[in-house]
Amino acid sequence: MTGKPLVVLKDVNKYYGKLHVLKDINLTINEGEVVVIIGPSGSGKSTLCRTINRLETIDSGTITIDGKPLPSEGRELARLRAEVGMVFQSFNLFAHKTVLENVTLGPIKVRRIPKAQAEQRARELLQRVGVADQADKLPAQLSGGQQQRVAIARTLAMNPKVILFDEPTSALDPEMINEVLDVMRSLARDGMTMVVVTHEMGFARSAANRVVFMADGRIVEESTPEEFFANPKTDRAKDFLSKILTH
Ligand SMILES: Nc1ncnc2c1ncn2[C@@H]1O[C@H](COP(=O)(O)OP(=O)(O)OP(=O)(O)O)[C@@H](O)[C@H]1O
Ligand SMILES: [Mg+2]
Repeated sequence: MTGKPLVVLKDVNKYYGKLHVLKDINLTINEGEVVVIIGPSGSGKSTLCRTINRLETIDSGTITIDGKPLPSEGRELARLRAEVGMVFQSFNLFAHKTVLENVTLGPIKVRRIPKAQAEQRARELLQRVGVADQADKLPAQLSGGQQQRVAIARTLAMNPKVILFDEPTSALDPEMINEVLDVMRSLARDGMTMVVVTHEMGFARSAANRVVFMADGRIVEESTPEEFFANPKTDRAKDFLSKILTH
């Protein structure tokens, strides 16, 4: 069902000053796989995502994408950023550009794709995430759920090999959460490789191939969603699940 290793982290350690935020992380994400990362606040989930597209450096260990080590700077790094898409909690759309311009900017500037071609593809992607009719608006004229779907379309426009989602629905009103999760489920069904930090356990159960549970900078458990939710092995995971499933 899933393919060859795409993102491989080996013995990764990271510090912020004296704070040891990632401890001996070993994690392989295969092509086509959906890995959901959960864990308490401060456990290092965002930091882990940020090291994978090198928004943060690491202090030891290695990270490879498709067999190649992460570049540290320059044009190679720009290319990596295009291959590893990232969708944040805050949508980070350009406020003074239209929805269409937000989606075409990367392909035109980084990929050097002709404008007409980039626009055609952008319209297809906006259609795919269900906001084709919003193309000429500014982000502020859209709902949060619509803005997040535009952010996903913008990421898809770069043809990433993998997309990292860091709590993509946490800033949304409840009624908009599902429209974004539905888009993510459809990407998962289409075979997109995805790493998703989320508190949406329904999504983890229905879309994840694997759940990774982090606590205090470590990967504490790693299993299928069925196994993880039915039989968490550690007290940390049991405690975490009892809190989020009952609140
Ligand atoms: N830029 C930074 N400088 C210093 N410390 C940081 C920085 N970013 C994060 N930290 C610390 O690193 C640890 C891990 O943070 P991280 O944001 O990765 O956690 P998280 O699991 O994503 O938490 P949350 O669920 O609250 O988003 C925390 O103790 C945090 O305070
Ligand atoms: Mg976080």
